[in-house]
Amino acid sequence: MRFHKSKKTKAGRNDPCPCGSGLKYKKCCLRKGDAGVPTFEGTRNLYYRKYKICLKSREDIEGIRKTGQLVTKTLDFVEEKIRPGMTTDEINTLVHEFTIRNNATPAPLNYRGYPKSTCVSVNEVICHGIPGDRVLKDGDIVNVDVTSVLKGYYADANKTFFVGTPGDDAKKIADIAKESMKVGISMVRPGNTIGDIGWAIQNCAEKRGGTVVREFVGHGVGFEFHEAPQVPHYGKRGDGIVMVPGMVFTIEPMINLGRKELYVMKDKWTAVTKDRSLSAQFEQTILVTESGFESLTPY
Ligand code: MF3
Ligand code: CO
Ligand code: CO
Repeated sequence: MRFHKSKKTKAGRNDPCPCGSGLKYKKCCLRKGDAGVPTFEGTRNLYYRKYKICLKSREDIEGIRKTGQLVTKTLDFVEEKIRPGMTTDEINTLVHEFTIRNNATPAPLNYRGYPKSTCVSVNEVICHGIPGDRVLKDGDIVNVDVTSVLKGYYADANKTFFVGTPGDDAKKIADIAKESMKVGISMVRPGNTIGDIGWAIQNCAEKRGGTVVREFVGHGVGFEFHEAPQVPHYGKRGDGIVMVPGMVFTIEPMINLGRKELYVMKDKWTAVTKDRSLSAQFEQTILVTESGFESLTPY
């Protein structure tokens, strides 16, 4: 992605600012940099001031992209090894060792007291499953969520895998969750809003008979594990912050086959569907580019 310092705009002084702030152009980016030219620095200052969003430079993006490549390689490595009979803790060991071997750090370990290097969420577990003694059995679905830190840059992605041969419900919920993530990603471009993403995801998931978890959202990522903005996986078209180039955030819808409600177990982490129905999730780290989006954790 490139930031064009000299990009011309047709906006008049009293028109809404092209950076999407909702302010008049003359009160916003027109005041910054060269007259009539909204610079990256101007928009970066504005987005930080207004929303605490840290826009990423070209150099930052290169760093996050490198971490993202490691994250997707880690998911591929795990996928190859998943088998019935394996414990969730064995998956944690695979992720931990692969990450360290590649000179990176697993972000979950000790994050707000989290005790492991990855989250492993089986069947009715929505997210934040703590790896342990649970044994994977044929027909299970298992989500593995990997966040790595390489040279200070974070990238975050997850996938739901089949253990052995999936049943019809397993196939259905995994497929809905994956398609929901994809339609959410397809809404990412400058000028669209964060609400457009949630709207598209909810529309897709509910049309196909899934429900959208409300308690967990996508998030800015790159300099830290969880940054502004929050990215809900439900919502209304046109609501929320306007996307601008240089924003990096995750899209990670959790979709249930039954009701959307959840409870968190006594370990304070493991989130489970209240009705014990299956839940699936897919996550990628997405960059807003000048023309649309780029996945920094492509798969
Ligand atoms: N990787 C999760 C996410 O997608 C967050 C896990 S927090 C942890 O945002 F502490 F459980 F690792
Ligand atoms: Co995330
Ligand atoms: Co994640």
